Amino acid sequence: LITDVRLRRTLDSRGNPTVEADVLTESGGFGRAAAPSGASTGEYEAVERPPSEAIAAAREHAVPRLVGEAYAGNQREVDAILRAADGTDDFSEIGANSAVAISMAAAKAGADVLGAPLFQHLGGTFRGGNFPIPLGNVVGGGEHAADATDIQEFLAAPVGAPSVEDAVFANAAVHEAVANLLEERGVACGKGDEGAWAPSIDDAEAFEIVDEAVSLVEDEVGFEIGFGLDVAGAELYDSDSETYEYSDESRDTDEQIAYIAELVDEYDLVYVEDPLDEDDYDAFAELTDEVGDETLICGDDLFVTNTERLREGIDRDAANSILIKPNQIGTLSDAFDAIELAIENGYDPVVSHRSGETEDATIAHLAVATDAPFIKTGAVGGERTAKLNELIRIADDAT
Ligand code: PGA
Ligand code: ZN
Repeated sequence: LITDVRLRRTLDSRGNPTVEADVLTESGGFGRAAAPSGASTGEYEAVERPPSEAIAAAREHAVPRLVGEAYAGNQREVDAILRAADGTDDFSEIGANSAVAISMAAAKAGADVLGAPLFQHLGGTFRGGNFPIPLGNVVGGGEHAADATDIQEFLAAPVGAPSVEDAVFANAAVHEAVANLLEERGVACGKGDEGAWAPSIDDAEAFEIVDEAVSLVEDEVGFEIGFGLDVAGAELYDSDSETYEYSDESRDTDEQIAYIAELVDEYDLVYVEDPLDEDDYDAFAELTDEVGDETLICGDDLFVTNTERLREGIDRDAANSILIKPNQIGTLSDAFDAIELAIENGYDPVVSHRSGETEDATIAHLAVATDAPFIKTGAVGGERTAKLNELIRIADDAT
């Protein structure tokens, strides 16, 4: 039985305040989790409130309904109480940041009571021996860095890695190889919010460099490393002119579809996230029809981890993959529902971090528990390696 829920403001990786929750139980169980935060957020995401307001509202509405009332191990009940306490569709009362922090902290407290690793408590006992392949952000721009690439994320995808450990180290090696290639070209740069290099080069040059870095590391490690993108198309799209605005060029929707299809072909892209605007199911469907056999077309801002939006996408054949971010929808139960609906319909779930992160590693357990084929959680940087190293530990314990 939950005996206390404590909420506080802590720092996220951007230096912004976020919500951290502690859940304590009668039998001595303890769980702590913190909410991440997006910069290129989807329009249809659950609402993040300023942490001080989210904390005050959760203390008033949610905490009294949980303490002495719910079992931490009963995730569905905890999450249903959070929804009822909030009373809106989008967590705009207690804030999706308070909701997701409490939801994840309760899961950890539930696992603690059982004395089981979190991924087991979340249903991973019979999940088999597969591990999610980490997609590693190695070059980026968009909303995550000033004066860098238009495309938000260039991702290494070590699809041939024999183990999660090999995959994690391969992504770090690609990240380093990119740095060396940038140096050779005399390009100095810093890093974006997710730890990817943020050079002031155009996308064409970024493609060249990442392609070369991937090949170099591939030769070194001896397994296949693919290449993927998060275009974050909604951030490029101008709804007045109905065009995608790149620094050097403007593309209408047909041109954008053709451009992405060309990139898929030229670079053998294994993964393309949000290639188009978050309202354009039709354009997504057209692209998926064209390239969706060989390539994952993943909806992030399109689906926002929301089963209603995913259902619409499934009905319209809009994609073949969905990004899963628990804070986009507010609770772990909702994230699970989205993953289940995806798998039932042949969509690959990709569990994901946010650009603003914390040391919290819940998403590593979520990806393992649900047998998700991919996890996107950066390549380097402490708030990213918190998840990557947790994956290595989970795999180590399981073998
Ligand atoms: P965000 O970016 O966390 O800033 O929304 C990540 C993504 O678009 O996948
Ligand atoms: Zn995205």
